[in-house]
Amino acid sequence: MSPQRLPMIEAPGARGGRSRMTCTFRCGNACAHPAPNRSGNPHIAELLGGVVARRTVLRGAAAAGAAAGVLTTPSTAAAATGLSGAEAAGSLTFRPVAPNRRDNVTVPVGYDYDVVVKWGDRVLPGAPRFDVYNQTPQSQAQQFGYNCDYVAMLPTGKRGRAVLVVNNEYTNEELMFPSGHYSDNDMRRISIQAHGMSVVEIRRGSRPGSWEQVPAERTTLNRRITGDSPMRMVGPAAGARRLRTSNDPTGRHARGTLNNCAGGTTPWGTVLSGEENFNQYFDISGPTAARHAESYERYSLNGEDTRGWGKVDPRFELSEEPNEPFRFGWIVEVDPFRPGSTPRKHTMLGRFKHEGANIRVGPSGHVAAYMGDDEKGEYIYKFVSRRRWRDSDSPAARRHNMRLLQEGTLYVARFTGDGTGDDEYDGTGRWIPLASDTESFVDGMTVQDVLIDTRLAGDAVGATAMDRPEDVDVHPRTGKVYAALTNNDERGVEFPVDEPNPIGSSLVRDELGEPLYREKGNRHGYVLELTEVGNDPRATSFRWALMLVCGDPEAPRTYFAGYPKDKVSPISCPDNLAFDPAGNLWVATDGNALGSNDGMFAVPLTGRHRGRVRQFLTVPVGAETCGPLISRDGRTVFAAVQHPGEVDDGGSFEHPASTWPHTDRFPRPGVVCSYRVDGGRIGA
Ligand code: FEO
Ligand code: CA
Ligand code: CA
Repeated sequence: MSPQRLPMIEAPGARGGRSRMTCTFRCGNACAHPAPNRSGNPHIAELLGGVVARRTVLRGAAAAGAAAGVLTTPSTAAAATGLSGAEAAGSLTFRPVAPNRRDNVTVPVGYDYDVVVKWGDRVLPGAPRFDVYNQTPQSQAQQFGYNCDYVAMLPTGKRGRAVLVVNNEYTNEELMFPSGHYSDNDMRRISIQAHGMSVVEIRRGSRPGSWEQVPAERTTLNRRITGDSPMRMVGPAAGARRLRTSNDPTGRHARGTLNNCAGGTTPWGTVLSGEENFNQYFDISGPTAARHAESYERYSLNGEDTRGWGKVDPRFELSEEPNEPFRFGWIVEVDPFRPGSTPRKHTMLGRFKHEGANIRVGPSGHVAAYMGDDEKGEYIYKFVSRRRWRDSDSPAARRHNMRLLQEGTLYVARFTGDGTGDDEYDGTGRWIPLASDTESFVDGMTVQDVLIDTRLAGDAVGATAMDRPEDVDVHPRTGKVYAALTNNDERGVEFPVDEPNPIGSSLVRDELGEPLYREKGNRHGYVLELTEVGNDPRATSFRWALMLVCGDPEAPRTYFAGYPKDKVSPISCPDNLAFDPAGNLWVATDGNALGSNDGMFAVPLTGRHRGRVRQFLTVPVGAETCGPLISRDGRTVFAAVQHPGEVDDGGSFEHPASTWPHTDRFPRPGVVCSYRVDGGRIGA
C-alpha cells in the first residue's frame, strides 16, 4: 500500500504573511473561503473615496521616503540604528532583535534560551520514548502534543516548581510523518491524540531564569488532554437538544477538545482554553441536515474536509452526527491541580471560533471574561458573572469560584467612531447584552440558541465586524483592555472601512495627494485599547482607541501611540498578548507580512516611552510566536514556537524548511524559556 499524503495542500494562496501550509492545516483554509459574516453589520464610517484619510498624528513619518520601504521590506533604520543599545526606557532596556530569517530562536544580546518541552517529549509516567518511525495513537496520547500555542504557568506551592499548561492547537501531517511510512488512518488516529492540551510540571533549571521538565516519573501533575478525552458541558446550554448525539443522549458529556488556540489563567487557579477553527474537522460531503443549514453556514461548516477524520471516527461525519459540531467552539476550563478532573466546556461564554478568554475581577468582585472570535469580520465579546469572586484558597471558595462562569450575562461589542477630525482612531462603544443564564435579549432566539449560535445573535444586534479579534487581555493593574486585531485582507472589500477598522484595500496617497501604493486590506493589524466607563468591568459602555497601527514604521499609516516612528521595531500581525510585572504589554505575532520571521515584542503603556515597540525575540523559519508569558519574578519569558517549517512551498518530513530545535532532522514545535545570562530581570 502506498498511502496518500494527508491531507493534500490545495490552498489557493497564503494570506498576509502566513504560509499556504499554515492556512491549510490550522484554519482549514479559512481565508480561501468567503468570510462567513454576511450580516452587513455595520457601516459606521468614512470611506473617503476609497482612500483612508491620513491623520496628522502621523505627520512625523518621512512621507517622501515612505514609498520605498513600505511594501515588503522591514525598515532597516528602525532595526539597526534608531534602537541601538539601552536607552533609558522605563523597564525595557534590552537591545531589540532585528528582523531576520534565521532558523532559530533569536534573543537579545546578553540573553539566552532553553527548550523546556517539545513535541513527543514524555509527559505521562511510562510513556514510550518518542520514535518518529514508530508512533502510535497510544504513545502520542502520553507524549507532548503538536503545535503548541497558549502557555500558562501556575506555581504548585513547592519552591521552584510550577505547572505548565500548554495548548496543542493542530497537526501538520506533512511535517510529522515520514513519507509513505504510515497509513492515512494511522496518521489520523495519531493526530487526534496530538491535539488538545499538555500539562507538565517544571522546575527551575541550572541558570537563574531557566526552567526544565520534572521527569515524568517524579510528578503526579502531568497530564494529556486530547481530541478524544472526556469533557463535561456546563452552563445554560448543557443538555440542549442540539448538543445530544448518539454517543451522548444527555448532551452533557462531550468527547475531546480541538484547535485549542489561546487561553487565559483564572484567579482561582484554573486554565481556560479556546476552541478555535473547529469546523475543519468535520466531513460535510454526505447529506447534511437542512434544519442546521444557517448555523453550519455561519460557522463555515461548508468547506472542504481537509482531514478525513470521519474515516476513523464517524462522529466527524455530519451525515452521521449532525450535532457533533455543536459540541465544539467553546471555552474549556481545566483544573491542572486535579489531574483526574474532567475539563468543562462553558456554554455561558458562547460558541464561536474562540481565540481565548481573559478574566478580570472587578472592584465589586464580579468577574468579567473578555473574548475574541478569530475570523475576518467577527466580533469581540464579554461575559460578566452573576456572582462575586471569593478571595480565599479554601476548598469551598474554590468550588464557588469554579462555578462563576456558568451564570451571568454575555455581551457583544459595538464600536462607534467619533470621526478622524480629532486625529485619533478612537471613539466610544457599547456592550450589547445577548443573553443571561435565564433570559435571552435577542428576538426570536432562546438562551440556548444565543449560546450555541452566538455569531447569529451578534449579527442580530448589530455588533461591529472587526479584523480577526485574537487575544483580548486585561491589564492587571489598570483594568484597561487590550485587543489584538491581527489582519483582514477583505477590509475595504467585503467589510467597509470604519474608524475602528481604518485600514482597508485602497490607494494610499502622500500628503500632496500623489499615489504611493495600493493597500490590500488590513495586512498588519492593530492593538486596540479599551477603557470601561468607571473602570468597572460590569459597564455597558466604553471608550476605545487604536494604540498601535502595525506595519513598517516608515509606512505613512502606521502609528505607535504617538511614539517617534524611527525608534520602534517593525511589527506585523499581533496575535497573543501578555503583561510583565512592570506593566508593559508583550505582543506575539503570527504571519509577519514584512518579510521577517515572526516575533515577540514589548511595549510600555505609560510614561514617556508609551508606544515604544521593541522586538524581544524572533522564532524560526515558518513558525509563529505564541504564549507569551512573563514569569511573576520577571526573570523568564516563555514563548511557544508553533509550526516551525510551515512555509509557502510546503516542505516535507524529508525536506523540511526548518529543523528547529535541531535535535532531529525534522522540526519539533516546543516551548522555550528565555532569560538574562547574568540572572537579572528581563529588560531591567
Ligand atoms: Fe489560532 Fe487566532 O489563532
Ligand atoms: Ca477619532
Ligand atoms: Ca492565535
